[in-house]
Amino acid sequence: MNEMEKQTRDLPGTGRYYAILNYGCQMNASDAEHYAGQLEELGYAPAADYNAADVVVMNTCCVRDSAEKRILGKIGEMKRVKAARPDMVLVVAGCMAQSHGDQLQRKYPQIDLLLGTSYVDSLKDVLTAFLEDRCPQALMNLAVQSSEFEGTRVRQSGFAAWIPIMYGCNNFCSYCIVPYVRGRERSRSQENILAEVRAAVAQGYTEITLLGQNVDSYGNDLGQRDAFAALLRAVDQVPGVRRVHYMTNHPKDLSDAVIAAVAEGTHICEDFHLPVQSGSNRILKAMNRRYTREEYLTLVEKIRARVPNCTITTDIIVGFPGETDAEFEETLDLVRQVGYDAAFTFIYSKRTGTPAAKMPDQVPQAVKHERLNRLMEAQNANGLAVNQRYVGRTLEVLVEGPTEKNPKVWNGRTRTNKLVLWPVAGEACKPGEYVNVKICSAQTWLLKGELCK
Ligand code: 5AD
Ligand code: SF4
Repeated sequence: MNEMEKQTRDLPGTGRYYAILNYGCQMNASDAEHYAGQLEELGYAPAADYNAADVVVMNTCCVRDSAEKRILGKIGEMKRVKAARPDMVLVVAGCMAQSHGDQLQRKYPQIDLLLGTSYVDSLKDVLTAFLEDRCPQALMNLAVQSSEFEGTRVRQSGFAAWIPIMYGCNNFCSYCIVPYVRGRERSRSQENILAEVRAAVAQGYTEITLLGQNVDSYGNDLGQRDAFAALLRAVDQVPGVRRVHYMTNHPKDLSDAVIAAVAEGTHICEDFHLPVQSGSNRILKAMNRRYTREEYLTLVEKIRARVPNCTITTDIIVGFPGETDAEFEETLDLVRQVGYDAAFTFIYSKRTGTPAAKMPDQVPQAVKHERLNRLMEAQNANGLAVNQRYVGRTLEVLVEGPTEKNPKVWNGRTRTNKLVLWPVAGEACKPGEYVNVKICSAQTWLLKGELCK
């Protein structure tokens, strides 16, 4: 290497590239935007392909075994990538880094930096130090938690901004690893969140999604009551905001004040993600969900009475330890009764360290698969029936862009988060724009329509 090259290489980020491989939930996607922000502050540019990147950040998820297996496969593959480009820095961050700790680094020495979930803000400093001394690090102290956010994000979308309002979870559902890897609930202050919303709007963002593992307990750790409802109302008032979404709700905490805020707000979308997990009271108790089937159904009724034509989506786990056929039937029955717009359905995955992992009567894999198929069938019928009700209506759609399959067919979302497809002739739409689409037909997962001029 000549002196000139050496100088260039010593300047952090000059002519260098990064890649982020992201897994898991929206919170991870949001953290990835902060990693991208820090890397761009250091002068790195996005790489077209992670094989050619100087820094690769794998932002991991450990909520289910399937995610972990995929991620471990990719970490394994990184050994070959690093063998070809030994200067490449491999950062493994996120929930799996937190749960597996330095064990992971011992098993996969190609990992240079292991960053637990409390170190999202620290990538810039940790990477800068690593480039000086090339000393691998594993940072996993969950006690180093901050809640405010002062950094920059490189957002993936040009019009939809994800904004975390709180981190961590205090619920300890018996199947879930999240409270162990993301620590206790920490809420950002309303001011800090509103400042980020205003800054996003100033950059042209009009759709805001407020994120938290349990948004309904926002502010509890700050000693505030009904803080989430107040936050929703405040975000609704920010000039330039056109749509406000939020996730995830917990049925035991979703308050009348939040429902009222949605009902009375102007830009707060009529779209409730309300994970039920099971329709059996015995299983709900074993899951430590702290509501009954009856309470859940009453809540759904209350929402629908106050916010007519809203979307209700859910998460469901099949094959929780000890779940009998009859108990699974209760879930099917609840799914039919609620008539969800969509359900994210999961096969129970045993997570070491959680109470459910030690429960007897783990359900055989074949039974879990059979239940999942039956559940999806029931929900598909719901999806189609609900979507058919949209046919003939004209809806405001936020334009996302052309579909992957056909550049002449574009897609976008309604306020209720329905995916809408329509044919476009010439340059009739722009991503981020709001247009009116008349719905002509419905399928299980989407609506098709025509642009109204
Ligand atoms: N197995 C299967 N699904 C799980 N989820 C959380 N933990 C597990 C697990 N151990 C699901 C829940 C949750 C969603 C984000 O992931 O349904 O709502
Ligand atoms: Fe998100 Fe949970 Fe996965 Fe972590 S473990 S990335 S919080 S889904």
